[in-house]
Amino acid sequence: MSRRISADQLLIRPLLESDIRQVAAIEQAIARDPWSVELFAGEFDVPINSRIWLVAEMASFGEPADGANADGKPELGGESSSFVVGFGGAMFVADEVHIMNVGVMEAVQRRGVARRILAALLLGSIDRGATSATLEVRISNTAAIALYRQFGFESAGVRPGYYQDGEDATIMWANRIYRSDYTQMLESLKR
Ligand SMILES: CC(C)(COP(=O)(O)OP(=O)(O)OC[C@H]1O[C@@H](n2cnc3c(N)ncnc32)[C@H](O)[C@@H]1OP(=O)(O)O)[C@@H](O)C(=O)NCCC(=O)NCCS
Repeated sequence: MSRRISADQLLIRPLLESDIRQVAAIEQAIARDPWSVELFAGEFDVPINSRIWLVAEMASFGEPADGANADGKPELGGESSSFVVGFGGAMFVADEVHIMNVGVMEAVQRRGVARRILAALLLGSIDRGATSATLEVRISNTAAIALYRQFGFESAGVRPGYYQDGEDATIMWANRIYRSDYTQMLESLKR
């Protein structure tokens, strides 16, 4: 049985200020250097056309996520409800888009949520004129690096000691993202 979350269960939509606490709580649980509530809130104070922030909202959990309750992860089954399970944000600098952060609640990881968020972020960025995309990621973050590779990002160098704890960052780039074969790939990854 596929663990993938079906398209009708997942809504990708813009981040609202009312989502910030939920998003910061997810971030707190999954990130090594979590963004604070204040940092997320500050994203609403910058010029609106300099950013794109999206969330993934599960319309209904319906049945419990596979194995989600077996090892102390949050109880997801039961009543139908709407719940933010992931987020992603990017910043525009001239014709480049810088992916700033992507995160998915642990209980629903590896079910295609980040893939859909990133595809929507990149499609939105191309719509706004971005021609290339870049990001920094911890060299030890094999999950995120594998995700970005699926989107054609390639390592282009290292920022030594980029993170507070001294870990290096890999700099990744995806170029010529406006190509029709690339946008077609994004459309298929978004589904
Ligand atoms: C990285 C992260 C966002 C991936 O989210 P996700 O919703 O689990 O990812 P998806 O299910 O969409 O996976 C898409 C692809 O990414 C790669 N991937 C995701 N998680 C992986 C893992 N644990 N190990 C190896 N590859 C992984 C795979 O290539 C996967 O495709 P596949 O399942 O068809 O093999 C999630 O692990 C996370 O929130 N990590 C903590 C925060 C973080 O590190 N963010 C990135 C900061 S730069």
